[in-house]
Amino acid sequence: LQTELHDRDFEQVVLCRDPEVGLESVIAVHDTTLGPSLGGVRMRHYPSRAAARADALNLAQAMTYKSALAGVPLGGGKSVINADPRVANRDEVLIAHAKYIAALNGRYIPALDMGTSVRDLELIGRHVPVVAAQRGDPSYYTARGVVRSIEVALEACDGRTISGSRVAIQGLGNVGLHVAAMLTGQGAEVLGADIDPARVQRAVDEFGITGVDLADVLSAEVDVLAPCAGGGVVDDQTLPRLRTTALVGAANNVLSAASLARDLRERGIVHVPDFVANAGGLIAVEAELRDDARGLEERVDAIADTAREVLNRSTTAGTDVVSVALSMAKEIVEANRKYRPYF
Ligand code: NAI
Repeated sequence: LQTELHDRDFEQVVLCRDPEVGLESVIAVHDTTLGPSLGGVRMRHYPSRAAARADALNLAQAMTYKSALAGVPLGGGKSVINADPRVANRDEVLIAHAKYIAALNGRYIPALDMGTSVRDLELIGRHVPVVAAQRGDPSYYTARGVVRSIEVALEACDGRTISGSRVAIQGLGNVGLHVAAMLTGQGAEVLGADIDPARVQRAVDEFGITGVDLADVLSAEVDVLAPCAGGGVVDDQTLPRLRTTALVGAANNVLSAASLARDLRERGIVHVPDFVANAGGLIAVEAELRDDARGLEERVDAIADTAREVLNRSTTAGTDVVSVALSMAKEIVEANRKYRPYF
């Protein structure tokens, strides 16, 4: 484990246990060069301890790069509680976890994630120095950044625009519905699918999208495919079936392996990496932490500049967009290394 942490530039990883209440959790602080590490508290029953630890490490590292590219003064962190979210003594487990977070003295700021709610964050907040309580819903800003990235991707496809384009959205949840509303509002034809038929019906009724079968959404013939459900939807099986010109969505880790970015490039599919496109929510959460929403929309819209730079550098260097975006993020972190404003 220490070799892995060293090779992946981790600052600190805390493995927590409280047998009295049945807590097993991991707090991963990847990098605090740009600021205290921020990341969600994920509560989930993992198949193994190794799987829980791997999830925390991967997500924390991705947060470092997402923050760096979004120009947010935060580092990358994440914590996972390896427990069923329906566990009977849930509050006790959350408080035990919060006490371990508190011992880090603000180096890790907990936020919302899968399996935790605003109420849970409020509970944790009573025990830690800083919490991202997320009273406002960041998903509008996430969607706004995704739509800006879609514009840039279309621009790169022979100068197309949202108006008159066809976009397929997988997942019409908090982010997906906002994306559907914005795209139809700008004159796109939107197709959408969700495992929950009520979500599809709502998008049909409110925004005039066309519902499609779950099995068909990924292979729909469209200008843009926007995955806004779970991660890993583009893999060795699905990639050959894609019939889209561009791939831009909100779902974290949309590629099951980073190496698939090369295959997308070979197939000529314009791709904006998720950790570039979906940073709007993080920008909003950071603004809420400082209680200062001035210029928030402009800062989210600036995701378009980053997306454009990633695509341009990728074309010039002949390298895939994920490698380009990661090296841009690492450059930003390294350039700030000697200042370490947080320490
Ligand atoms: P959500 O839980 O509100 O929506 C997800 C939707 O996808 C649900 O309606 C669900 O029924 C549907 N879904 C699940 N599996 C599906 C499948 N196989 N096919 C079709 N639909 C499926 O989540 P939210 O907040 O909208 O987030 C969407 C994605 O964006 C997630 O991957 C999340 O991690 C990511 N994200 C969200 C941010 C936010 O601000 N909410 C910020 C950054 C990333």
